[in-house]
Amino acid sequence: LAASAQLAGQGAGAPVQAAASANLTILFGSQTGNARHVAEAIAKQAQGKGIVANVVDMADYKTTQLKNEQYLVIVTSTYGEGEPPENAIGLHNFLFSKKAPKLTGLKYAVLGLGDTSYEFFCKTAQDFDQRLAELGATSVHARADLDVDYQAQADSWSNEVIAKLEPELTATTAPSAQVIAWPGSDTTVGTASQYSKQAPFAAELYTNQKITGRDSAKDVRHIEISLAGSGLTYQPGDALGVYFSNDPALVRELLLLTAIARDTPVQLGGETLTVEQALTEQLELTQSYPAFVEKYASATNNATLSKLAADKAELRTYIGERQIVDIVRDYPGLLSAQQLVDALRKQQPRLYSIASSQAEVEDEVHLTVAVVRYDAYGTGHLGGASGFLAERLAEGDKVKVFVEHNNNFRLPASNDTPVIMIGPGTGIAPFRAFLQQRDASGAQGKNWLFFGNPHFTQDFLYQLELQNYLKRGVLSKLDVAFSRDQAAKVYVQDKLRKNGAEIWQWLQQGAHLYICGDANKMAKDVQQALLDIVQQYGNHTAEQAQQYLDELRIAKRFQKDVY
Ligand code: 2AM
Repeated sequence: LAASAQLAGQGAGAPVQAAASANLTILFGSQTGNARHVAEAIAKQAQGKGIVANVVDMADYKTTQLKNEQYLVIVTSTYGEGEPPENAIGLHNFLFSKKAPKLTGLKYAVLGLGDTSYEFFCKTAQDFDQRLAELGATSVHARADLDVDYQAQADSWSNEVIAKLEPELTATTAPSAQVIAWPGSDTTVGTASQYSKQAPFAAELYTNQKITGRDSAKDVRHIEISLAGSGLTYQPGDALGVYFSNDPALVRELLLLTAIARDTPVQLGGETLTVEQALTEQLELTQSYPAFVEKYASATNNATLSKLAADKAELRTYIGERQIVDIVRDYPGLLSAQQLVDALRKQQPRLYSIASSQAEVEDEVHLTVAVVRYDAYGTGHLGGASGFLAERLAEGDKVKVFVEHNNNFRLPASNDTPVIMIGPGTGIAPFRAFLQQRDASGAQGKNWLFFGNPHFTQDFLYQLELQNYLKRGVLSKLDVAFSRDQAAKVYVQDKLRKNGAEIWQWLQQGAHLYICGDANKMAKDVQQALLDIVQQYGNHTAEQAQQYLDELRIAKRFQKDVY
């Protein structure tokens, strides 16, 4: 894939043009596909103006190419505590290393996508911007740091950047626009479907089955959805985007608290609809965000809440796990239906790692969904999409979905390559897809799965399937960590450490390594265990072990799907 991405890049400038080489390179750093979609939209816009524009996944970008670039646009999200998304780590490290070249000939612009709920909002975009400037590059347009509902601002930023670049870039390149499809863009993957994030497919729910035991602390559902008639296709590693309706009870309480009549007309996205429809179908109610608190405080003239909203750290702490209705209940006030709608942001679809392979399930798609359900602030809470899928959608009902491709979480190209999969909790999902795929294709490569959850009897997701795979040899090894079945916690990383020698052996045999699941704790602890294993069995220093894992990542042999 890396090789063909480079080819696509070179294809843009046939030898003659390569000399002029005034093409626009658009790099994206993306975890969930948003930055990729924005990058593709910028490219389309540039191409419409006759600019030769190449979109490249940062994970596929040859850093040696950087010194040859003249025009560069970077679109990147930020992740966790200000960290680059997985596919941006390599380029980010390179730019901040001693190897980074002087970039005095480069003109660039950076667009950041982020979430103002996080302290290190758009940190990665700031890093790239600052570092390119330090290396001597010239910013052609001020960076914009955009919040979750970025679309309109991304469009106008893109317009402004293209307007600035157009005179220079169209003067030096061939007059005819060239559309370069990069491998993985929706135009090159399978048959293009008419359905997308903007135009989701109304899919039928086939199955909603609880797969944790009656006494489990968790409610995990195995969900089966039909993609029949949609033309949507996916590969193991891809995610399914899911839109949902909000809980009518939540909408009712919000309207009651604000004394707004449900059929009050409001304007939203150029449409007139009732406030009840807007709240139920289009707006985000189950996640709170700083902008809501600020706008709500101002609309209700609430000085106490405005004061709280002014202190960002305090505001983040206050928001905690509060849903919109919790805030309104805390600070009741009157505002118009339109003001309420304007204070809320548009619902973002939720992404779920797909738990099936089309080689096995054909036009179905399976998900493994943990239902978000918690008591807090004196009342029960239910997650938006998970609550919708698990509780409000009946079998046979429709759910709006789209496929989000993820080229950075893929089985090895060769069926003979061994794979090591680490997926505790719902992190099992993509590995069920991997196993189905390897089974269906008769792959000979060895497969080793590490799974963990609280209790063997309650939380062994897909137990029968996995044991069957083991019996049939599709799974070569299965190691499980049931954390609460004994006095001391046992986690997947403990199982990894126990098997250190053999893990190292598999890596020596070219194994690919995958982690899926919790990003905050699990993935970090697992990565540390892997570093320790490489250090011990590879006779490496800590630094060499880190380098070893970095090289695996760059070679796409170490991939993460964490959230
Ligand atoms: P616990 O809830 O008993 O602490 C899936 O959620 C599994 O991951 C559970 O068994 C959970 O254990 C475990 N888990 C919790 N924290 C973890 C960590 N830091 N690393 C690995 N697994 C962890």
